[in-house]
Formats: sequence, C-alpha cells, structure tokens
Amino acid sequence: MCGIVGYTGKRPVVDILLDGLEQLEYRGYDSSGIALKCADSIKVYKAEGKLKNLREELSSHAYELTKSVTGIGHIRWATHGAPTVVNAHPHTCGCGKLVIVHNGIIENYKELKTELEAKGCKFKSQTDTEAVAHLIASIYGEVKDLTKSVQLAAKKLEGAYALCIMHNDEPGKIVATKRNAPLIIGIGENEFYVASDVPAFIKHTKKAVYLTDNQVATLTAETLKIEDENENEIPVKVEQLPWEPVALSKMGYKHFMLKEIHEQPDVIRNILVGKLHTCDSPIVLDEVKLTRQTLKDLNRIQIIACGTSLHAAMVGKYIIENFCSIPVDVEASSEYIYRKTVTDAHTLVIGVSQSGETADTLTAIKQSKSRGSHILIITNRPDSAMAREADSLVPVSAGIEVSVAATKSYIAQLTSFYLLALYMAEIKGTMAQSDLTNLKSEMLALPQKIEQILAHKENIQKCARKYSNTRDFIYIARGLNYPTALEGALKLKEISYINATGYPAGELKHGPIAMLDETMPVLSILMKGTVYEKLLSNSEEAKARNARMIALTNSTDEKLQDLFDYIITVPDVTELLSPIIAVVPLQLIAYYIAEFLGKDVDQPRNLAKSVTVE
Ligand code: G6P
Repeated sequence: MCGIVGYTGKRPVVDILLDGLEQLEYRGYDSSGIALKCADSIKVYKAEGKLKNLREELSSHAYELTKSVTGIGHIRWATHGAPTVVNAHPHTCGCGKLVIVHNGIIENYKELKTELEAKGCKFKSQTDTEAVAHLIASIYGEVKDLTKSVQLAAKKLEGAYALCIMHNDEPGKIVATKRNAPLIIGIGENEFYVASDVPAFIKHTKKAVYLTDNQVATLTAETLKIEDENENEIPVKVEQLPWEPVALSKMGYKHFMLKEIHEQPDVIRNILVGKLHTCDSPIVLDEVKLTRQTLKDLNRIQIIACGTSLHAAMVGKYIIENFCSIPVDVEASSEYIYRKTVTDAHTLVIGVSQSGETADTLTAIKQSKSRGSHILIITNRPDSAMAREADSLVPVSAGIEVSVAATKSYIAQLTSFYLLALYMAEIKGTMAQSDLTNLKSEMLALPQKIEQILAHKENIQKCARKYSNTRDFIYIARGLNYPTALEGALKLKEISYINATGYPAGELKHGPIAMLDETMPVLSILMKGTVYEKLLSNSEEAKARNARMIALTNSTDEKLQDLFDYIITVPDVTELLSPIIAVVPLQLIAYYIAEFLGKDVDQPRNLAKSVTVE
C-alpha cells in the first residue's frame, strides 16, 4: 500500500528518497512522487506507474536535484481518484509553498473541501489528501509556524493518516504526524529519516522512534522535537531496531514468490527451534502470557484476521477446538468491527496478521482490548502496531515477505497456530500424551515433506500449464482443508486474475454444481482421514457433470485414476497437519499459471502487501 519516506540532513536527498521508496515498493502501488526543497522553492516530481517512470522524469532535471538535502517521497495506492500524475503525491497548497504526503484516508475530506473552496482554495486533484494541504496552508497563513499549523489542522481531521509536510518558508524542516497509520523516525548523525516502514531507512540507521497517535514530530538536520497535539513536548524514546538491512534479492529465482515458496521448509525449522525441541518435550512459547488460571477462565476464543491470515485463522479454529475443547469463532476483521460484538475478560482474542499493520484487524484488536479481553497477536512483525497492543505475542519469524501474495507467512502462521494449540492443550490437559507425542513428531518431519514436494514440482508445473487457459477454477475440500481450498483459490485469483473459488465440497450440490461442465476445472483436496470418503463422493458428483477433475492427495488409492484427469500426490501426513502440506502445491499451481500467463507475479494489479486503510 502507500509508502512514505522523508529525509533532512546534509547529504543529497534524491537518491535517499528513491532508494527508500524502492525498499517499500513490494507493498504495491500505482504512482509515485517526491518533493525537494531547492534553492528558492519546493520542486515536485511525479509519475504514474512504477518508480522507474519517476526516475526517468527526474533524469532531465539532474542539476537542480543534486543540491537538495531535504525532501519527502511517496508511493501511492489509489483510494480517492485514479492513479494519475495529478492524483499522485506530494500534493501542494494553492501557492505551491506547502507540500504533503499522506498514507491513509481522510474521512471528512468532502466537508473540509467545501469549507476550503468557500474560502477560495482551488483543488486540482480528486484526492482526500489535497484538502489537508489546503487546510494546513490556510492555518499557516495565520500562525506562520508549520508545526503549530499541523497540530491545529490535525484536530480537524477524521480518519487515518500518516503525514509528512514541508513548507518553503521553513527550509530544512519536515513536520510529521500520524493517527492509526504507522510512522517511524530514523535517527542518524546530523540527519533524520521519517518513513511508514523500517526498510525505507534501515540501511542508514537502526536507531528509531515510533511515533504514537496524535504526536507531532519536527525534524531538522540537527534537531528532533516531538510534541502532543497541544504543544506539550514529549521525551524522545529512542529504540534500537531489531532489524538487519536485507538485500531484497531473488537469489536466482525468477520471482520473489517462487523464492518464498522454496523458503518454507526453513521457515518451519526456524519457528520450531527453541519452541519444539523433541516430541517428548513441552512446547515453549515465552511471549505467551496465558496462565493456567486465565486459560481455565476462558469461555471462548475469537480470532480476527484478513485475507490469507483469515484462512490461517480458520485452520486455527479447527485445531484449537479439536485440541483444547474451547469454542472458537473466526471473523474477517472488516466485518467484526462494525457490529455489536460480544467479547469480555473471559474471551481470548487472537489477531493474525503478516504485517501487523492491517487497519481492519488493528481496529478490531483495539476494540476488544478496551473490553478487557486478553489480546494474543500472531504476526511476522514483532515491531508492528498490532504487536504493541498485544498481551501475548507469537512472532512467526518468516523473514521479510516481498511477494504481495502471501506464501511463507501463511505456512508460518499455520505452524504457529499448531504450536499455540498444542501449548494450550498441554496446559489444559485436554490431549492424551500419546496424541501429543505423535503430532509433535509429525510436526518435526514437516520441513522434509515440503522439500519432497518442491523437489518434484515439475508435475505441478505440468498441471498448471494444462489448466492455465481456463477462465474459472473451483477448489473443493472438507473439514480442516476447507480453508486450504479458500487459500488455493485466493492465490490463483490474486496473481492470475482467474475467477477461482473455494467451496466446502458438501455445499457443491446446493448451487455451485450448476456451473459445472466440461470447461470447468475442479481441484479436490483429498487428504486421507475422516472426510476422505465423503469428498470422494462429492468428486464423483462433479465428475458426473463432466468437470475437469484434479486430485491433490496423499492417497495411493487406485480408483482415483478413473475419477481424476490429473493427480498431484503429496507425502503422507496425518490429517490434522495436512493443511501445511496441501497448501504448497496450490501455491505452486497459482504461481506457474500466473507465470505462464505472463502476469506480474510479485506485484499483482490492484493489490497491496499491507493494507493500512479500512
Ligand atoms: C493484503 C495482502 C494479503 C494479506 C492481507 C492481510 O490484502 O495482499 O496477502 O493476506 O492484506 O494482511 P495481513 O498483513 O494482516 O496478514
């Protein structure tokens, strides 16, 4: 989603901004721009599409650009107005002296715009952000102080925002503020950075300050001052970032997605280290603060998440209920937050998020926290806003995931859910010791099994080629692989734009079966266990309607040969752990279809890696 980078110091700013934006571009965007404080004015450069277009735009202005040492930059994922140059950030006030970049959505921008137009402001773009530029500039006209103008303007804003602002009359200065959107200040030697995420400046400094909501930071090359919205100065709390600069390298793979799929065995190994030593030792989750008494007092668990994380949450529900006998509800965060939800001190609320920043999930978590629920966060970003709200944390340690389509973070979330469910079952004593031992032993063997799938991926690639010309694709499964069907379909939709849907196989006959004919691929996730025979019958029903049948299975049952046109076999695994194995071929099918169709696999159209607007 949108990204912000700002810098003020002694060094030329252009490359710092472009490089910082490049570190954020994996998050998904559709236009970009920078504003530079030059000798007597602020210059703004913008371009549609990828950052290389902005670089081209800048190349003809080389001389004036090299001198500037203060600037702000932005990549935009369109919310209000099409992804055009006019709508790209930075936005300016009428006279062009004030520039602003913004992540988030200003909900009352229409009212503000009407007021400002009545005062004579002329708007150029369709964005909500431009209203903020005019608002701050109109206040600046009276108070002649940028920090104060931002403080006063922020009181009139509704919605979510991270803002960075410069004014031509206050050279060398950037003012930054935020509400419900991340903003971090990086501290260098006689220089400061400001960004919406750490990768934008981590190669320059590991010292940082996380702004909290409504704080206003004023940065110059030598000084950093943080105040609240009422001008009270706040002590600067510097943190050492637990990050190493990571070279975002594909390591020889054609796409980040393929590289990240291949990293999955090691991701599981990394998670298990220190948490699951042997099949006889108890699970260790140091950052989970659920006591025996808290667990005993729980009458319910509520899991909230979005997208791929929601599918991990659905598997989580299944296994927690199975292992721990506690009722679990799962809901998309965006649905959860706008209805009367019932959570209290006896509800454990689990938020699942790769980024830890997804606006809907963050809001849901804050709501539940205010009602006294214990908040447990499963995230790949232990430094994120969600992690900061957590009473208990399960860091999934998947490493940075660059491809917009989540793969290794999903596997990491699933693994973490298994660890958590086993951990709670051990405390509650709800599982037989022999079952615990067997499951743990199978978990330790998962990495090798995924390696086996990856070693024989040609069969999956062939399957992808065979079905890549389809307009629609159906995935069916039952039980704890129903979320796997949803995830397989989501992966395919996201990167190939094929209309793919996952169904609980028993529901096929209640509607979707009407769509089946000889053009429709139906992929059946047929893992051995309680629902195997049932799913086989559902697959027969689809076959009887001439659908193009594909099996993903760990069964060697010969009768599958007659029923299915294509069979993908995975290593044998206990039913309870099968979602971790079954999803890998589905990730590969989606990848190979999209790659074969020539799609932009790592940065699919319209999508963003981290969605910081509701
Ligand atoms: C975006 C991404 C998805 C992701 C979802 C939830 O839509 O494109 O891949 O699953 O956000 O993100 P989160 O960071 O909360 O897991």
